[in-house]
Amino acid sequence: MAENTMNRRKWLRSSALLAGGATVLPSVLNSLTAAPLPAAVREIVTDESVILNAAPQIKARLSANENPFGPSPKAKQAIKDSLDMSYQYAFTTGRELTQKIAAYEGVKPEQVMLAAGSSPLLQAAAMYFSPKGTIITGDPSYNDLPDTAEKDFGAKVVRVPLTADYKLDLDAMEKKIDSSTALVYICNPNNPTGTVLDAAKLKAFTERVSKKVSIFIDEAYIDYLPDPKAATLLENVKKGQNVIVARTFSKLYGFAGLRVGYAIAQPEMAKTLGKYSSGGGCISATSLSAALASYQDQAFLQDALKKTMASKNFLYDVLKKEGYKYIPSGTNFVMFPINMDGRRFGEEMGKRGVSIRTWNFNNQDWCRVSIGRMDEMQTFADAFKQIS
Ligand SMILES: Cc1ncc(COP(=O)(O)O)c(C=O)c1O
Repeated sequence: MAENTMNRRKWLRSSALLAGGATVLPSVLNSLTAAPLPAAVREIVTDESVILNAAPQIKARLSANENPFGPSPKAKQAIKDSLDMSYQYAFTTGRELTQKIAAYEGVKPEQVMLAAGSSPLLQAAAMYFSPKGTIITGDPSYNDLPDTAEKDFGAKVVRVPLTADYKLDLDAMEKKIDSSTALVYICNPNNPTGTVLDAAKLKAFTERVSKKVSIFIDEAYIDYLPDPKAATLLENVKKGQNVIVARTFSKLYGFAGLRVGYAIAQPEMAKTLGKYSSGGGCISATSLSAALASYQDQAFLQDALKKTMASKNFLYDVLKKEGYKYIPSGTNFVMFPINMDGRRFGEEMGKRGVSIRTWNFNNQDWCRVSIGRMDEMQTFADAFKQIS
């Protein structure tokens, strides 16, 4: 892997170690460095490496599931307003944000873990659970937690193929649970397929399975659903179940570069995972203020959703006109099968100023395209029509 393709989790981890490692992680580090590392299992392609390696003339950045309509004007104003005081550590702003999230979600503040994006929390879970046993995940699904566990901490990961309609196969995942299982990772909505699990089924699964093993629910894209409160697994946390719910401001809130995320779990689990993450102290004062000012800013969120939907419908039409099927998506990205080698497709789109990501599964190459502004979708359409 080239130097400049150091991936997101490595970058985040090295930053975390520099910033907070001296006080937070020494014992963890010692045991981790001693752990045997398995040989590389898969080629690492990340949203970050695609962009760092992309042609310089990228006009439509559709490879990292960002929200180009964000952040909210309230967030931008708060950043400006907080600059003068940013020589101070933002202890109180961090506490206020924690309290605001806890109050909105109906949990105790000690159940909320802040972090610089949700990635440090996925990595914290990977570090904590790897020595405890096997991790079960979907395939394909978001790879950060399972890959970190497998490649960096030597965990065994069981990857369970999706159902015929490209959803996580909860029944098959449940069957894989045995006495060696430590964690089930569920990404809902799922990245890269954009599929959404039936809420009642997932809640029942979680209630049953969490009696045996911990469950990590990654809800990075939950804000794109029509009713996030009905879809979230927080209800299960509130019932006292062994569930960790991870959220991020990086997606619908448009904060990917500002770096704010959080997880909600039982107080004991929050305390435990907190030992493996540098927490809210790694979030800048400006980003914390921005998150506090724009949390649940419905006017902004609804507007971003509307624009996302318009761009997504435009994309669906382009794909249909070109004779392509796609997986209907509940998120800000869409996956569809391509008739070309994935690597070549990515290169050809790159030459035309468009960055996308490709996957191979079910013996088929797929493109995942993030939903951008309408001008970006038009650029995608023009390029796609040339090569499809
Ligand atoms: C499913 C999922 N979880 C977590 C993340 C991590 O995002 P962040 O660290 O920006 O919160 C991403 C980013 O793309 C994602 O797709």
